[in-house]
Amino acid sequence: MIEDLLAANQAWSEAKQKKDPDFFLRLAAQQSPEYLWIGCSDSRVPANDIVGRDPGEMFVHRNVANLCTPSDMNFLSVVQYAVEVLKVRRILVVGHYGCGGVLASLGEPKNGLVDHWLGPVRALAVEYKDELDAIADAHARHDRLVELNVLRQADLLNANPIIVNARKGGHAIGIHGWVYSLKNGLVTDLHAPVPPGATDPGPSPRKVAMDATGAAAPRPQPVLTTPIATPILAKTKGLFGRST
Ligand code: CO
Repeated sequence: MIEDLLAANQAWSEAKQKKDPDFFLRLAAQQSPEYLWIGCSDSRVPANDIVGRDPGEMFVHRNVANLCTPSDMNFLSVVQYAVEVLKVRRILVVGHYGCGGVLASLGEPKNGLVDHWLGPVRALAVEYKDELDAIADAHARHDRLVELNVLRQADLLNANPIIVNARKGGHAIGIHGWVYSLKNGLVTDLHAPVPPGATDPGPSPRKVAMDATGAAAPRPQPVLTTPIATPILAKTKGLFGRST
């Protein structure tokens, strides 16, 4: 029932504010995430939850099989905004074992439009055919293609002109290839190769501040002074002649 979702939303909002009264005021005032997460759309891989980050801490882009396809305008827009405006310091490409998108790329194309989207993964499976064919176990073969796909996407990111130009301009960006396990909730770092000349952004400035003071890092002060207590109900005429 859709009402259950709205009730859960209300409870979540109340719980957040009880724990931290300024939480939403602060978020509404600005976002300054250090991370861009590029992950799979799979409902079992919730970006913020997996790494214990609150809203506002990660900019997130998700698509089927976590692809960084250079012709994808959505992906490019997200990366450019994250790098040039938000100045993220690290980009996490996160695949997951048991990825249905990757599995579909190993079989006959029979899923419709998504088979076109998965073309790059299918091409990758052809490129690594010998290595994959040598793996007898079907699950292990699937897992290996998941890893190869993450590493390929990290390579594509490292070669992306947005990243190349940002690094040239002195913006240190770490690009990390991870795989998440649905079976135990743990992430494995694949240690994606770092291109020559790319420097690591170092420890998070927020963590450095926390370590120095032994307390939570200072938070930006909220700009808003009064909370928005009631939702704004739009009374405009919708496309289909009803109020929305
Ligand atoms: Co997936």
